[in-house]
Amino acid sequence: MIVTLDGPAGAGKSTIARKLADRLGFAFLDTGAMYRAVTLAAVRNQGPWDDPRALAGLARQCRIDLDGSHVRLNGEDVSELVRTNEVTSHIHHLADNPAVREQMVELQRAIAAGQDIVTEGRDQGTIAFPAAECKVFLTASPEERAKRRVLELQARGDQISVEEVLEQQNERDHRDSTRQVGRLEPASDAIEVSTDNMSSDEVVDRLVEIVSEKTQRANG
Ligand code: DC
Repeated sequence: MIVTLDGPAGAGKSTIARKLADRLGFAFLDTGAMYRAVTLAAVRNQGPWDDPRALAGLARQCRIDLDGSHVRLNGEDVSELVRTNEVTSHIHHLADNPAVREQMVELQRAIAAGQDIVTEGRDQGTIAFPAAECKVFLTASPEERAKRRVLELQARGDQISVEEVLEQQNERDHRDSTRQVGRLEPASDAIEVSTDNMSSDEVVDRLVEIVSEKTQRANG
């Protein structure tokens, strides 16, 4: 069974997807980490930011391995390095690139093949796994999402204000929802869940219910 979990940055997807996968005994796929890993490779290579074909070529040379919460780039564990603000601010060069997205989606499908999996991102229910049995779209208000991001960045030692994060987040939301390929939007058959004022465990409880309803319907 494939469970897709899409939604904007800071809606709590990663934490929730991990916990949900644990509860269900499913594998977990963090597709944002894939885009982050190829972006880290491009940052190290200093782009070239104005050459989409070269960036796609660079991405093609990257070997990305995902193992639970760890991401490896050509064998190197870059799980922490991919979370920096520098990587985040360059991601759009890769995430807006249709040839890069095609490679990432291909890799996502190869990883998911034959597995029970919770897969988390922006386009999982729409592009990567349009036939997934259970699709969820997680949302939260922009302010709540920015506050969560600040806490996450501060925990990593990045000092940044809520206002700054909110500005970057608005820009990222705009890019995510207007890109030509793989834009952020709920699949027509996705269930929308708002995480405002809910703890991650409460959200996970709700998602477990949704998955079991879907499973019962599929079996009965
Ligand atoms: O979920 P995240 O913040 O780690 O994602 C990082 C970036 O990657 C985000 O700006 C959007 C992009 N992304 C994407 O375009 N498609 C996905 N399936 C996952 C992430």
